[in-house]
Amino acid sequence: MAFVFPSLADPAVVIFTIAGALFSCLLLYSIRINLMFLETPARFRMLAGSRWDRKLLSQTYKELAKNPINYTDQLPPRLNRRYIVTGGAGLVGGHIVLQLLARGTPPESIRVIDIRRPERNDLHSEAATRVDFIQTDITSLGSVQAAFCKPWNQAVAHLPLTVFHTAAIIVPSARSKLQYEFVESVNVRGTKNVLIEARKAGADIFSSTSSASIAIRPVELFPSPWVSIPKNFAQVLDESDFYEPLRPHEEFFGNYPASKALAERLVCEANDGDSFRTGCIRPGNGVYGDPTDNTVGGPLSKSIMPTISFAPSKFSFLTYLLRLRWVPHIVQSFVHGANVAVAHLHHEAVLTTKNCPQAGRPFVVTDPNPPITYRDLYNVIKFLSLHSFHVVVLPPILILLLSHIIEWYILLPYRYMLLKHILPEIRGDLKYLQPGLFSICTHLVVSDSEARKPVEEGGLGYRGVLTTLQGMVWEVLEWNREHGSEHDKTHARKAYTTSVELAEQIQKLGVGGVRIST
Ligand SMILES: *[C@@H]1O[C@H](CO)[C@@H](O)[C@H](O)[C@H]1NC(C)=O
Repeated sequence: MAFVFPSLADPAVVIFTIAGALFSCLLLYSIRINLMFLETPARFRMLAGSRWDRKLLSQTYKELAKNPINYTDQLPPRLNRRYIVTGGAGLVGGHIVLQLLARGTPPESIRVIDIRRPERNDLHSEAATRVDFIQTDITSLGSVQAAFCKPWNQAVAHLPLTVFHTAAIIVPSARSKLQYEFVESVNVRGTKNVLIEARKAGADIFSSTSSASIAIRPVELFPSPWVSIPKNFAQVLDESDFYEPLRPHEEFFGNYPASKALAERLVCEANDGDSFRTGCIRPGNGVYGDPTDNTVGGPLSKSIMPTISFAPSKFSFLTYLLRLRWVPHIVQSFVHGANVAVAHLHHEAVLTTKNCPQAGRPFVVTDPNPPITYRDLYNVIKFLSLHSFHVVVLPPILILLLSHIIEWYILLPYRYMLLKHILPEIRGDLKYLQPGLFSICTHLVVSDSEARKPVEEGGLGYRGVLTTLQGMVWEVLEWNREHGSEHDKTHARKAYTTSVELAEQIQKLGVGGVRIST
């Protein structure tokens, strides 16, 4: 009996066949790019130091518990100057204030301007509380002017003035120009305002916190199936982009780096070598070192509980998805807030020399050790935190698709005003799960060789004062001390506001804000 082919004329069969073929192709393609996003190029694997296991971590923990970190003798010598620190309640600005105090600057010579008072425990020390704090909205020129014009203590009013401008907001993943206005108002307009008032106040040194993320090129999210690795999936971050024309908006991974790049150019162009020397420090890449950071503090304060609640009001399952870890293999450099602050102090010291070649440009800085992997970071929290922390690794393709759906949904009300009051708003961390997030979760290794060069060779003579291992273990140690006290048997997690959450609160309130950058 002859085999009978189904008639090709039958439309149902044709449609079914085509649909089946398409589906198979899509499935194969998904599997292919999923595998690509799980790759680590050999070069980057070799760059990452050795892995952190339980033994190394508990040994480091014990050592630090016995001998707390004290890098006071590694700070550049004290200068006889006055200081204004914007974002001085934040991660980098707070460390600058602490280091100025530690090297002997009297509190009367320091002024912090920030949108809110510090949550950080270390900024509640005796000396730090004597530093003047002026609540300021840097998006308002009037507000900045008031903060700069307030008279100084007679004893220090004659001293030269340094401005450390660290205030900025972090919006991690949004990339659409439709959502750019708020980021622009704080990071660009805010920087303009601070520059204007710094000049008027007679500052001669202006050291601004920029971001190494400016150098990140967006990762190709849907690569051709035959390439071995998505374009821009592994990058080395340095300052070279600064010497090229400013890239168009779409060539940054998101609104945040686009705004920081613009601000950096403004700061560097304001340099005049003689009376107003400016420049930027680009922390690379994630800044950590305080429970309010997003790198270590974020995971510390939010465990993934084994029981998943689907309560729609809290979006906890979805929040969970964002805390999702699709990145344990990813190799990245990190930088402790204290190292960024030390870099700013080196920067300041160099800028005291008129017409120095270091002025009017950015310097990338990172921790003084090879990059680590996200698995190392999770191990610190998993093995050392007194709170439980579970890592759920999800396939990247799932997150990739979800992130596009979320971005599309979030942008709907921007595109169709009518929908603004109809569509429920996405709350919680889920809204950060937009495609831009993928570009900051790729292999990103920072090269800070320029900053580490001696001053005579055009560098900053920067040397980090603590390693990523020390810094991250130290952060968990402090967290445990805070939460493991006798008085608090529940070990309830203290609700810190991370810088990303703060940005959102500020946006909700409808005012611009001052805050620390990554
Ligand atoms: C840190 O070291 C300096 C001297 O290098 C010392 O004056 C200071 O008291 C030390 N700080 C702490 C908290 O031990």
